[in-house]
Amino acid sequence: MVEPLAPWRSKEKPGREVEAVVFDAYGTLLDVHSAVARHADRLGPLAGEFSREWRTKQLEYSWVRSLTGPARHQDFWACTVDALRFVCARYDVNDAAFIATLLDAYRLLSPYPEVPAMLRALRADGLRAAVLSNGSPMMLADAFGNAGLAPQIDALLSVEAVGVFKPDRRVYALAETRLGLPAGRIVFVSANPWDTQAAHAAGFRCLRVNRAGAPDEYGLAAAGVPSLPDLAGLAELLK
Ligand code: LAC
Repeated sequence: MVEPLAPWRSKEKPGREVEAVVFDAYGTLLDVHSAVARHADRLGPLAGEFSREWRTKQLEYSWVRSLTGPARHQDFWACTVDALRFVCARYDVNDAAFIATLLDAYRLLSPYPEVPAMLRALRADGLRAAVLSNGSPMMLADAFGNAGLAPQIDALLSVEAVGVFKPDRRVYALAETRLGLPAGRIVFVSANPWDTQAAHAAGFRCLRVNRAGAPDEYGLAAAGVPSLPDLAGLAELLK
């Protein structure tokens, strides 16, 4: 179990404790199921299952590549493409043009609806906002550029700078180095509990987004990690 951290901000030095918010991208700011959702009519009633399996395989491939060492590293786009190939084979989806369409859609995933206003509110409150993601620089630039969110984000940090995927500790250290802040002055926000626990173990103040109301994992609740149903209340919580 991870140890509880100090409150968000100290009463003695209001506003000085948290200086930046670092977000996970996929599943937290970007809806990973929005690519399949746009083409769900082609997949029929299995579309939801297909999309969930695509995501599960994508993450599995990232973890296996990290654990088998740097010689096996390929970026998150390669994991995404390989995962889609596997899921298409499993569901007998053979139309190359449709597969290419799904990949194009994944490059331009939709943000969750509350994200643009939430980012504007954070920055109006004087906080910096960054993304720390498995996504390759190309994937992050495409998705956040297309969503019109790039101007609201101070730094798009890809794991490619360290050549290993989350939850490797080096990834989280990248946020400290690039923002020039210790983990204790950064709130890390993720909808992926395994990601949240790794950031918490690295000393970040953490917040879990739990859109599906899933059960607690990794002892996060007991460790005092707050949970929000979406990101709409984030700026208020950090005030
Ligand atoms: C990311 C994955 C873990 O954006 O969602 O890093």
